[in-house]
Amino acid sequence: MSEVVSYELKDNIGVISVNNPPVNALAQSVRSGILQAVQASQNDESKAIILRCEGRTFIAGADITEFGKPPKEPGLTEVLAAIENSSKPVIAAIHGTALGGGFEVTLACHYRCAIETAKVGLPEVKLGLLPGAGGTQRVPRIAGVKFALEMMTKGNPIAVGKALDVGLIDQIIDGNEINQNAVEYAKNLVESSAPLKRIRDIEINGSDLESGFFDQARKQLAKRARGQIAQDRIVSCIEAAVNLPIDKGLERERELFRELVMSPESASMRHIFFSERQAAKIEGLAKATPLRSINKVAIIGGGTMGGGIAMCFANVGIPVVMLEVNDEALERGLGIVKKNYNITVQKGRLAADQMDKRLELISGTTNYEHIADVDMVIEAVFENLDLKKEIFTKLDGVCKPGAILATNTSYQDVDAIAEATARPEDVVGMHFFSPANVMKLLEVVRGEKTADDVLATVMQVGKRIKKVCALSRVCYGFIGNRMLSGYGREAQMLLLDGCTPAQVDGALENFGMAMGPLAMGDLAGLDVGYKARQALTNLPDDPKLYRMGTLLVEMGRYGQKTGSGYYKYDPETRKRMSDPEVESLIVEEAEKLEIDRREISDEEILARCFYPLINEGAKILEEGIAQRASDIDVVYIYGYAFPVAKGGPMHYADTVGVKKVYEKICEFRDRYGEEYWSPAPLLKRLAEEEKSFAQWDKERSGV
Ligand code: 3HC
Ligand code: NAI
Repeated sequence: MSEVVSYELKDNIGVISVNNPPVNALAQSVRSGILQAVQASQNDESKAIILRCEGRTFIAGADITEFGKPPKEPGLTEVLAAIENSSKPVIAAIHGTALGGGFEVTLACHYRCAIETAKVGLPEVKLGLLPGAGGTQRVPRIAGVKFALEMMTKGNPIAVGKALDVGLIDQIIDGNEINQNAVEYAKNLVESSAPLKRIRDIEINGSDLESGFFDQARKQLAKRARGQIAQDRIVSCIEAAVNLPIDKGLERERELFRELVMSPESASMRHIFFSERQAAKIEGLAKATPLRSINKVAIIGGGTMGGGIAMCFANVGIPVVMLEVNDEALERGLGIVKKNYNITVQKGRLAADQMDKRLELISGTTNYEHIADVDMVIEAVFENLDLKKEIFTKLDGVCKPGAILATNTSYQDVDAIAEATARPEDVVGMHFFSPANVMKLLEVVRGEKTADDVLATVMQVGKRIKKVCALSRVCYGFIGNRMLSGYGREAQMLLLDGCTPAQVDGALENFGMAMGPLAMGDLAGLDVGYKARQALTNLPDDPKLYRMGTLLVEMGRYGQKTGSGYYKYDPETRKRMSDPEVESLIVEEAEKLEIDRREISDEEILARCFYPLINEGAKILEEGIAQRASDIDVVYIYGYAFPVAKGGPMHYADTVGVKKVYEKICEFRDRYGEEYWSPAPLLKRLAEEEKSFAQWDKERSGV
């Protein structure tokens, strides 16, 4: 048929096979291949037709790289119509993941069978899209309106057992002989004269929907996915499925899909989809770099981070030993892990027997001899360089040759830690984010002497424990924390200049940040930043700098843990409330500093808080700390809850225009001083050349 689609007859069953690695995406060649095969099958002696895939998965969706480019014939709609109108039953045989357009192809088939391990799903929403090939019209017809809404607005894959229960598939087949079993299933259908079941012919049932159901859904989704439009459009499509004949509903779906494909939101989310995968790749490292095998891990320190990191490994079946200073600390560490698992079980997100299995994988010790056999150690003790060096010298003495020695330090010099051992090539940074068992980001810190195979192994381990990895070179705070300092600084400066805490946080939350920086400070504890600042010797001598944060700590207002910080908190609900006392204090301090407070727009708040991130990001790129601008975006999306619909700070700069960002930074420099607002040379250069960070990435990688 074509290079990527073949067709053969097997015992009077026509078998269409798609072979477009790695994930059989529906590229133009696949679409035209399937179309031709279906057309050919109509005139041969086949009695039924199977649609199946080679390789690791069934079709995992439309080819995302084609979005935003001129459409190429044939469109998916044409292919689906050919399948649905086939005079012989078409049966999808699913393995791996049938996702997005891939699952929608199966919904145009007359029957769907899948092996036990397969999953189906409509994850388009995660790309700022909606299912654009009939999914919004067909799923409610077979699985009901409420299920369809949940499935499409969350976008999570569904296991076959559940898929069978709700009618998304018709049959589970044994995966050992998938091809043979699919043919058998097809033959049975033929022998029993099974009808040509077209989902489009099913009468939709909206009778159980409460009045105002769709408006209510829209409201809830607007809260859950602040600032995103895809969820709203999905509701509109399902509403159309209930109220309109299917062809009209399909038209509405196409119209709204087109709107979303062109939206900045979807462009940002597609950018992150590819950036996340790109970030795991290390420039200059051969694909065939050998990997060290990691079957057992030790964590040094069972505090906030150590416990969470131990859970990450146990969750994927890797045994972990937690090493603590004494029995009491060890018991506390293991106790917290147990408590965390228990909460997950209580919430119904983990089965009790699964918890037991995971807990069995976590053991504890206070004796270094007991970790001599592990393949990887991750140190997570107090943030103190001397202590960390002492521990690495000990590890060097006991760990077997080839063990990877990692530190979870947030700020310390990984090279200095490596030098405390006789094997600096085995030392690397693995910077997890809190809570470590929840946050997706893993910043992998490459020391001066870190060996290539150590880096390649850590990247692979990161993927195994379901983290998104990004590589950083050594510098104070690595990529993420280094960039953050200007963000927090400006949030505080804005108070003196005229804002209330609620105004600063509100502007950033409306932009899509999960929590504004001042509320975040209250959550983390204002004393943490206060102590960290005291250790810094190079801060400008400026009474405005961190004035409000410092004063609040000195008043005993540490944030949520003391019931008040920038805000006051309801002792029971922890709801944050504006505090007139803080607002008066800000005004008083501004007066003392002779600052003329003024009206500040949300636009200025965004610029003052985000442009320092972008400027520092540009410095980080120029110094080679990050490999790519897109890696920085990945760090901010997965480590700092930057809104994915905005694509990360560097992508956001591209959206605003690098030149505009540069000019604004120059304006702030003239207004607020060089020590805070010195434009990065790279930013200046890109602005002058009218280039984006995306172009810079492309030029550097030679694409
Ligand atoms: N289009 C183009 N490329 C894709 C792709 C797609 N739909 N899905 C994956 N790829 C690429 C990845 O970019 C990656 O490329 P690389 O090797 O050059 O980095 C490669 O395939 C392998 O992908 P992963 O590293 O993600 O492989 P995994 O095995 O970890 O995961 C997967 C496989 C679960 C299928 C995952 O790739 C995935 O979730 N893909 C996206 C699925 C999706 O969102 N589908 C919906 C698309 S939109 C749509 O269908 C619209 C329709 O309604 C009209
Ligand atoms: P923590 O104070 O909660 O835990 C540290 C643990 O280390 C304690 O349980 C302590 O008993 C143990 N410990 C101290 N000395 C030890 C030794 N010699 N041997 C074995 N155990 C020892 O600290 P936290 O927050 O878990 O931080 C640990 C590391 O992780 C630090 O380097 C920190 O910078 C880093 N980090 C912290 C993040 C956070 O948000 N808390 C985020 C990312 C990294």
